[in-house]
Amino acid sequence: MNINEIRAQFPTLHREVNGKPLVYFDNGATSQKPQSVIDRITQYYTDENANIHRGVHTLSQEATSNYESARKTIQDYIGASSEVEIIFTKGTTDSINLVAHSFGELMQAGDEVVISAMEHHSNIVPWQMLCEKKDCKLKILPMNEQGELLLDELDQLLTDRTKLVAVTHISNSLGTINDVDEIIRKAHNVGAKVLIDGAQSVQHLDVDVGKLDCDFYAFSGHKLFGPTGVGILYGKRELLEQMPPYQGGGDMIKEVTLEKTTYNTLPHKFEAGTPNIAGGIGLGAAFEFLSKLDMSALVEHEQDLLDYATEQLEKIDGLKIYGTAKTKTSVVSFLIEGTHPYDVGTLLDKLGIAVRTGHHCTQPVMQFYNIPGTIRASFAFYNTREEIDRMIAALDRIIPMLKD
Ligand code: ALA
Repeated sequence: MNINEIRAQFPTLHREVNGKPLVYFDNGATSQKPQSVIDRITQYYTDENANIHRGVHTLSQEATSNYESARKTIQDYIGASSEVEIIFTKGTTDSINLVAHSFGELMQAGDEVVISAMEHHSNIVPWQMLCEKKDCKLKILPMNEQGELLLDELDQLLTDRTKLVAVTHISNSLGTINDVDEIIRKAHNVGAKVLIDGAQSVQHLDVDVGKLDCDFYAFSGHKLFGPTGVGILYGKRELLEQMPPYQGGGDMIKEVTLEKTTYNTLPHKFEAGTPNIAGGIGLGAAFEFLSKLDMSALVEHEQDLLDYATEQLEKIDGLKIYGTAKTKTSVVSFLIEGTHPYDVGTLLDKLGIAVRTGHHCTQPVMQFYNIPGTIRASFAFYNTREEIDRMIAALDRIIPMLKD
């Protein structure tokens, strides 16, 4: 595995920012795109543009076949048993909202949803809205100081009224990899369904939804080297069959009269309106790109980046890392005594280094630690130790300036 050969396929990694070669450590927010994905989207708009599922003409048939073959590629990659279990959405947030609205319709007053204390806002707010609307109860699985979920407490939270457990596979702000196998097993024991927020996972782990036996798995294209505005909801077929449509419109219908509508079969029942066709085809190309890589070697490389960055950051006086779970992916969140994260982020940018600062859409995590936010460096497999050295050297330069 040659990281330089992989890097060569990502054009953005080769630009300069503020006169310095870019060091891109904001992969948790969005990843860069390989040339093959960019080319595939360009090819669609250059040669193949047509609406799908609607035309007898050649272009429409071709676009339909390319879009559906992307769905198949994604199904194979994540181990779903049928392509009808792969619903194209706008992204993770949209996927979770789909479940909250549609599966939520099957819930009764007094039913319960369990989420965790480390969720992204997109896996909190839809459940709060649902619980308010349906008079259901939202329960929270707590975490410890290291940023690990207290799984023993799940047993007390689960009851025969628990209809859904919705948890993140990997925390976007702390990097914790949660033991979702255990969560799924415990939830299923009381008959609850499980939604896994995989926004930070498919790009870092070998995700197989069949082996996991989760009921729903949500993720975004743009964090795994694909385009923005497209994502996936995986759902077990028998569950999706029972759920009512999320949105009404074209493509999700079988027959419409002015009085009544019957709905299309899966997956189209959940895909109202013209979808992000280029996005879906581009996401298929991203999965084709991923399937050519030796993911286990790349995961090892990411772990090395995490260990190396942690070791180097810990040498900096007054620096504290938030999120020290035993199982972590390549995300390091930290604060430096006497400095504000925004100032650090802004000065790092002046030196060509892109990190994210703030609450990372996880305000409850920040409230838990009683901090306003963190500086977060999130690595992808195309990052290198040399780039980490550049960040450390930049911090060594910046910190005395900010503390003066
Ligand atoms: N959820 C994304 C992040 O963690 C945007 O940065």
